[in-house]
Amino acid sequence: MELLNDFLFPEDRLNSPLLTENITLSEKSSWKILIVDDEEDVHTVTRMALRRLVFEERTIEFLSAYSATEAKELLHQHSDIAVILLDVVMEDDNAGLSLASYIRRDLNNNMVRIIIRTGAPGQAPEEHVIIDYDINDYREKTELTTQRLRTAVITALRSFRDLSTIVALNQEIEATQKELVFSLGEIAESRSSETGNHVKRVGAIAKVLALGYQFSTSEAETLKLAASMHDLGKLAIQDSILTKPGTLTIEEFSIMKTHSDIGYQMLKSSKRSLLQIAAIIAREHHENYDGTGYPQGLKGEEIHLYSRIVALADVFDALGNQRAYKMPWPNSKIKEYIQEQAGKKFDPNLVELFFKLFNKISSIREQFPD
Ligand code: C2E
Ligand code: SIN
Ligand code: SIN
Ligand code: FE
Ligand code: FE
Repeated sequence: MELLNDFLFPEDRLNSPLLTENITLSEKSSWKILIVDDEEDVHTVTRMALRRLVFEERTIEFLSAYSATEAKELLHQHSDIAVILLDVVMEDDNAGLSLASYIRRDLNNNMVRIIIRTGAPGQAPEEHVIIDYDINDYREKTELTTQRLRTAVITALRSFRDLSTIVALNQEIEATQKELVFSLGEIAESRSSETGNHVKRVGAIAKVLALGYQFSTSEAETLKLAASMHDLGKLAIQDSILTKPGTLTIEEFSIMKTHSDIGYQMLKSSKRSLLQIAAIIAREHHENYDGTGYPQGLKGEEIHLYSRIVALADVFDALGNQRAYKMPWPNSKIKEYIQEQAGKKFDPNLVELFFKLFNKISSIREQFPD
């Protein structure tokens, strides 16, 4: 049987001259298998049947629960259980299936593999239960000979391993995307000799405002990342304008203003929602609430809420820091300006929120100084 190739018995290894293999074996953590059954005998027989099982050079560690309630406690203590061998009838007729539901729905644990073993024939759960709770295997206890049990456990361990790999991979990809997004924003920023931290601050300030606006944590986090690309279009602006120490001429400023549309063009074709949001922000972050901004002259709520938030964060940060063309403003002058621009440049509701959260917002400057 092909599956059998996946596990070895340690006693076979004792003859091996490679002692290091045994050392490796003992150093790796074990797969945790939780046996849930109200009959003591079932625990004994299961441990016997699975004794000395090794999968991918890792041994088995058994945990035993004699009721669904005990199983819940063990699940709280051990977040890394790989397989559950689950009885159906325990403290009540439905204890096993309720536990499966608790694991998937309440604990939101979609990793652990569940094998149901029932003592009473004809008690098969409905198919939708097996599908909804992602039950890997369903057997009557009498059906499960030692060999079949070992095979079922190996199959479940393999699924658990594959799921763990996929989850780890996804986390890696997500982390990489975040880094790339920030790097892109920083590249745009460094060209205009603004410091790289402007991007971080605008993102962090936008997130504080978003959370104050009752965004969910994940939506606020998305806004933070997207906000870091608001000036991506500055990559296309020539150095002589971008880093000019003095005031821009009208013609130079009209070239500078194209950075909004250029950023939008760079980002808009992506199907990723993060980049679509970034595209909107790049285009609209210099729109004014009263319709006097650029490039489209949008007004009020025609301007996306995300863009209104980033506009306020961007100007607050630009005023408080040095640029090639200006010295930093003191806080008092910044506050005065922002208050005066409520309903003109800025969404008045956001200005109100800004003053409520002022301490938190200004502390971001200390967190990411120039
Ligand atoms: P930025 O430096 O990131 O500034 C973003 C926004 O902050 C500006 O958008 C403006 O709304 C506000 N801001 C920054 N400094 C001041 C200031 O001293 N006074 C006032 N009232 N507001 C200020 P804006 O005006 O659309 O400018 C967009 C970008 O164009 C700026 O981004 C900057 O890179 C460049 N820029 C604007 N004016 C000048 C300038 O006189 N000289 C140079 N070299 N670049 C400029
Ligand atoms: C199975 O063995 O059928 C399930 C997972 C795997 O491919 O190992
Ligand atoms: C899954 O969909 O849960 C992975 C494969 C399996 O164990 O059925
Ligand atoms: Fe800009
Ligand atoms: Fe900016």
